[in-house]
Amino acid sequence: MKSTMNREELRKKRDKYIVPGVKHLFAEPPHFVKGRGQYLYDETGREYLDMFAGIVTISVGHCHPKVTQRTVEQLQTLQHTSTIFMTQPMADLGEKLAEITPGKLSKTFVTNSGTEANENAIRFARLATGRHEVITLQHSYHGESHLATTMTANHNWRPDLMPASGIVHAANAYCYRCPFKKTPDNCSLECVKDLERTIQTQTSGKPAAMIAEPIQGVGGAITPPDDYFKEVKKVLDKYGALFISDEVQTGVGRTGKHWFGITNWGVEPDMMTMAKGLGNGLPIGAVVTTPEIAEHLTKQQINTFGGNPVSSATALAVLETIEEEKLMENARVVGDYLVEGLKDLQKSFPSLIGEVRGKGLMLGVEIAAPDKTPLVAETQRIVELSKDDGVIIGKGGLFGNVLRIKPPMNITKENVDSTLKVLRKAMEAVAKVAV
Ligand SMILES: Cc1ncc(COP(=O)(O)O)c(C=O)c1O
Repeated sequence: MKSTMNREELRKKRDKYIVPGVKHLFAEPPHFVKGRGQYLYDETGREYLDMFAGIVTISVGHCHPKVTQRTVEQLQTLQHTSTIFMTQPMADLGEKLAEITPGKLSKTFVTNSGTEANENAIRFARLATGRHEVITLQHSYHGESHLATTMTANHNWRPDLMPASGIVHAANAYCYRCPFKKTPDNCSLECVKDLERTIQTQTSGKPAAMIAEPIQGVGGAITPPDDYFKEVKKVLDKYGALFISDEVQTGVGRTGKHWFGITNWGVEPDMMTMAKGLGNGLPIGAVVTTPEIAEHLTKQQINTFGGNPVSSATALAVLETIEEEKLMENARVVGDYLVEGLKDLQKSFPSLIGEVRGKGLMLGVEIAAPDKTPLVAETQRIVELSKDDGVIIGKGGLFGNVLRIKPPMNITKENVDSTLKVLRKAMEAVAKVAV
């Protein structure tokens, strides 16, 4: 499918009509006109391997035939009623989410995005506890609204001048740059102690909840140690605070072994939020909670588009596809293979790669000098060179020096081989300039 508009014309139009805050990853962005499976195509017909899945959103592959068919069928049958009228897809989705989420989570509120899901989770926590304060982790990202940007502890994503009230931030479990100068072998989970200190010193001692990403996504695939969340949960229980797992990036099987990231740490949250991969590109988000918490939502809640038949039917088709095509298992097997390859790359470029981390197909490669100085320009160069060679890699981290590799969950080992080849070439070029 060819577009009539060339890149330059399109850039001019975008700059004229779209607010400048909507920025693109690349200095010279390709003009994408088509997606199939794990591939994107630009206006000239050139193919790119999409190793970032939009932003961690294409879970089962671009324009998956079964999912697309279900979307179109629903679109042609009944698109909209709003939640004040009864339709089946939203209830079916609620039933499916109750089946795949852990423990007592079984009551769903469907939204249009991750931001809205997080907004509602905090509202539910406040109503259920009668408390107000919320703890989040440094380097986190929780969305775009006023509340969500305040919960986001990364200045790059906080445009509001006046923060929302009642939000405090505790140290995250960023072992590579441990804020307490510990190493994994002498670690006594100082970060969990910091959580308790944060509650004691920055709240009334009665916080409503803590919200955390099991693996911080925008933060650069920051992956806490195995015992971290169990210890966090103990602290929260001690202070009567609820635990909300933000699964917007780690959800629907991406971490390889479980439907949701937090299960890797053996913890059952009181609430879970999700979006992105749940709709494979169609706008949808959800909060799933327990009947006890849901009971406190006594006022009528409406969301004009949330739970609409098209997004709900699509999400169901996505979850079925993950099961039928064993994509969770693929995320684990191909993810492990990718980690092995990235660690080999690290051996070849010890002065460029500081750490390879993550689980399944939720991976990050921190680009840093041996003294851990973030190599920001080099990171951008690697991302640009990879794109020039037909592989789309994301970028993130507080300093902008982490390669984010989070492809559709259907990628193959051959896709991994070509990614590693392209990354090696890009790193050779970057290392040469550095010398
Ligand atoms: C962990 C996390 N939570 C929430 C959000 C916000 O989701 P949305 O962009 O759908 O509002 C994002 C988006 O990147 C995210 O990564």
